[in-house]
Amino acid sequence: MKKEKLDQLLEKLSLEEKVGQLVQLGPMFFSEGGEITGPMQAMDMTKTELYQIGSVLGTHTKEEVKNIQSTYLEHSAHGIPLMFMADVIHGYETIFPIPLALASSFDPSIVKEMARLSAKEATSAGVHVTFSPMADLVRDPRWGRVLESNGEDPLLNATLIKAYVEGYQGDSLLDPETLAACVKHFIGYGEAEGGRDYNTVDISDLVLYQNHLPAFKAAIDAGVKLVMTSFNTIRGIPATGNRWLLQEVLRRDLNFDGVIISDWASVHELINHRVAADKRDATFKAANAGVEIDMMTDNYQHHLVDLVKEGLISEEFINQAVMHVLQLKNDLGLFEDPYRSLDKHPEKEIIEVELRAESRRIASQSMVLLENQQAILPLQKEDQLALIGPLAESHDLLGAWSWIGKTEQSVTISEGLLSKTKQIEMVKDRHDYVKLKYVDKVIVALGEHSEETGEGGSKTEITLPQEQIDLLKEVYKWNQNIIVVLINGRPLDLTEIKMYSRAILEAWFPGSEAGNAIADVLYGDVNPSGKLPMSFPRSVGQVPLTYNMMSTGRAINEYNHTQKYVSKYLDNENTALYPFGYGLTYSNVKLSEVEVIDKGDNVTVNYTLINPSMLDAQEVVQLYVKDMVTEVARPERELKYFEKVFISAGASKKCSVNLTSEDIAYYHPDLIKKADDGTIELYLGLDSQAPLIGSWHYKA
Ligand code: NOJ
Repeated sequence: MKKEKLDQLLEKLSLEEKVGQLVQLGPMFFSEGGEITGPMQAMDMTKTELYQIGSVLGTHTKEEVKNIQSTYLEHSAHGIPLMFMADVIHGYETIFPIPLALASSFDPSIVKEMARLSAKEATSAGVHVTFSPMADLVRDPRWGRVLESNGEDPLLNATLIKAYVEGYQGDSLLDPETLAACVKHFIGYGEAEGGRDYNTVDISDLVLYQNHLPAFKAAIDAGVKLVMTSFNTIRGIPATGNRWLLQEVLRRDLNFDGVIISDWASVHELINHRVAADKRDATFKAANAGVEIDMMTDNYQHHLVDLVKEGLISEEFINQAVMHVLQLKNDLGLFEDPYRSLDKHPEKEIIEVELRAESRRIASQSMVLLENQQAILPLQKEDQLALIGPLAESHDLLGAWSWIGKTEQSVTISEGLLSKTKQIEMVKDRHDYVKLKYVDKVIVALGEHSEETGEGGSKTEITLPQEQIDLLKEVYKWNQNIIVVLINGRPLDLTEIKMYSRAILEAWFPGSEAGNAIADVLYGDVNPSGKLPMSFPRSVGQVPLTYNMMSTGRAINEYNHTQKYVSKYLDNENTALYPFGYGLTYSNVKLSEVEVIDKGDNVTVNYTLINPSMLDAQEVVQLYVKDMVTEVARPERELKYFEKVFISAGASKKCSVNLTSEDIAYYHPDLIKKADDGTIELYLGLDSQAPLIGSWHYKA
């Protein structure tokens, strides 16, 4: 539909109909074909109001979408189709690894492919918009939602967020296999105090601009269609009612021109925050701030019309908001075909075969090998194995946000291993322990329950449960050739696990093909290549702990670490147990011939990667900088380049990277981003503890 037609349509709408477009409800409102049902009664909603709403959240099947859309269109006045939105976070029915695992791939092409494929499956079930990607930068593993994040580094986060948006949205939303993306949660949600979900956030503008905005900017620059506001406060005001944040930062500084949607009930929750007196006030605050769609409450439905009539909210704002919604429906081709993506896809079974194969490949690229002492891995065909542990035969491998995925259809670790070997003992209880004595290697499958992670999954302890640690110690008494496989959604304190294992494979929640992907990595059919996107602390007491902490006035070093008045703990080290960017391969890849060519306003680093092993490998090379003198305190080091490089067995490869002023510019106290002349130390390596390789004397 042409823009003029959209303008004409907007003109035809009454104020009530316009406000309806800004209301989003769940499919249960339509469950009785539009009859007044429980949810409608609870919201005191009329049939007319129901047939004016703009979008629906969380349908399950294509039949449901078809029914709702056709009943709606029969009853609605102007034939404006509904838009269907859902949380398609790491797959729809076929589940891929959790986002934190995808981030461990350090590979935007993996993320883009996952997003493309989940869009394909979700659109076949009638979904138009996904509430993904989550761009929240995170620093606290107590927060369950780290599972949905790309971890602690702004560059990695921004790079992957761009890949998500490109993967979901493709080249044109008129392609029925694409989804419109909604980047969330704007902004700062990852800084919830104490790691407690929905808690207060209080960060400086510098931190906001420097660390949190880049991933949202990347999404917006990639053309993301919607932004979701967060539950938390920023500068003391909840994001959903924060005019400065939505108008000056999001609309002006980030130049966002799409739909702004609240999070679930976050308009109403302005009352709980005690920044709004009642529903009418909450509606005023959210609309005045610029929130366009009210997700799952009746605040806009029941109060926005009056606020406009009384002149408190301008009709201009309403028109702009409705136009954003209509424009998005138009971009999706819904006016031409309200059933856009239904019945346009290959058979469900065909999609599933493609997605299952890719889910397995992607999962195997997302695992991180944390330990491999005396090269106990990869497993050899002749190895006699035992498998033990609460996750050995569990199907709980999909992780949070896999609501359409079928848990019972995930491949278990035992099934995956059995597809590669028959020489494996399943050790279920203590009567079987004696079997452990006679095998070459024992695989111990440990981890978290999916309910312990994701939204509402905050914890104060990040060790595994005591029973699991006791089990590991028991196994150790029988056989010390232990390989621990971890299924979990957050960085854990692995201090004790490390003491009793020779290998540790961080498999995260790998998704539908979990067991197969784990077996591929354990047997070396896939050489592990994942790196940690978040630091793993030695103790929860160190949290928040990231590789890019600020310089302090009393940093410890080799000379002062025994003194008392330096920045340290009395009972533990400052460093992570496993740092950001860390992860092993089976190949022991080496960096050599590193050369820094300082050209003043830019610098080039050349390096060679050598793969001395008999296996093809992928290594993630990482370049960090330390700006030696800055106007505001800056991180000890910051990632400025990473690249996942493929190197054939026995081969070497020459690579190169160039940094310019863009890479070292930072926000000054006036929130202007610029680079300062001066010395920049460069660190190149295979994790965030990379060694110093030289300096760049930057001069503009
Ligand atoms: C609440 C969550 O915070 C958000 O991430 C999600 O997209 C919405 N619910 C919709 O389910």
